[in-house]
Amino acid sequence: MADAHDESAALDTAALEVLLAGSRLGHPLIYLPAVESTSTEAMRLAREGAPDGLLVTTDDQTRGRGRMGRVWHALPGELLALSLVLRPNFPPHVLIMAVALSVAAGIERATGLRPGIKWPNDVLIGGRKVCGILIEASGDVTVVGIGINVTGSLAEHPELAARATTLAEQVGRPIAREAVAAAVIRALDREYRQLRDGGEAARVAVRATWLERLVTIGQRVSIQQGERTITGIAEGVDDDGALLVRQDDGRAHTILWGDVEAIGG
Ligand code: BTN
Repeated sequence: MADAHDESAALDTAALEVLLAGSRLGHPLIYLPAVESTSTEAMRLAREGAPDGLLVTTDDQTRGRGRMGRVWHALPGELLALSLVLRPNFPPHVLIMAVALSVAAGIERATGLRPGIKWPNDVLIGGRKVCGILIEASGDVTVVGIGINVTGSLAEHPELAARATTLAEQVGRPIAREAVAAAVIRALDREYRQLRDGGEAARVAVRATWLERLVTIGQRVSIQQGERTITGIAEGVDDDGALLVRQDDGRAHTILWGDVEAIGG
């Protein structure tokens, strides 16, 4: 295992392989010291016929991509960048829930922290983002991209520190990226198997567990959809995972996409 105190060390892929023994997801494991985007690479490999479960990971993602066409910045070696190739036989909104849930559960297992989920799939600790998830589909292939701020500190980046944090900052000690990666992938492996084989009952179970972690419900929120802003109370989530928001004037909105921020008042 990589020295947990050497935060600049390359990912220890041999240790990660050992930690992933028995998991269907995470194999084959493709490690690239640097790559533009693990998700772009995973999609390229999937189009060439890569199997379900293939994982692309790196230490230095030079053009990481975020939701809604944004750039995903990370310091080399401090981010855990994981992209998995999947071919789910269940709806995308269920996969979104399963991935956020697995990241939260994996982080909890690896660190003892109790993350929450901000709709639709940001993972937060103490109200600050610790993980972003990008899910992209093309034909029958879905690439799940997961970026977790594991090591390092955002103290020198006040504009980021207001909204984001790292696992190491939250637990007050260095955290090995291999342990977090394995815990997250193993959690997703379990959820994915259950969803693939378990039909409607498995979907209902995932939704219920996701709702328990969802911190957005009951909050006063502002939702940015391009130029449009909607402000109101997040009252619930419909059967397809859309956020139900009621404005102060009573108007109801079904939110399918956008950036959600909790606001006071
Ligand atoms: C977000 O906007 O919150 C989603 C960020 C997703 C970042 C991850 S890092 C691994 C994978 N590769 C990418 O280029 N993006 C995702």
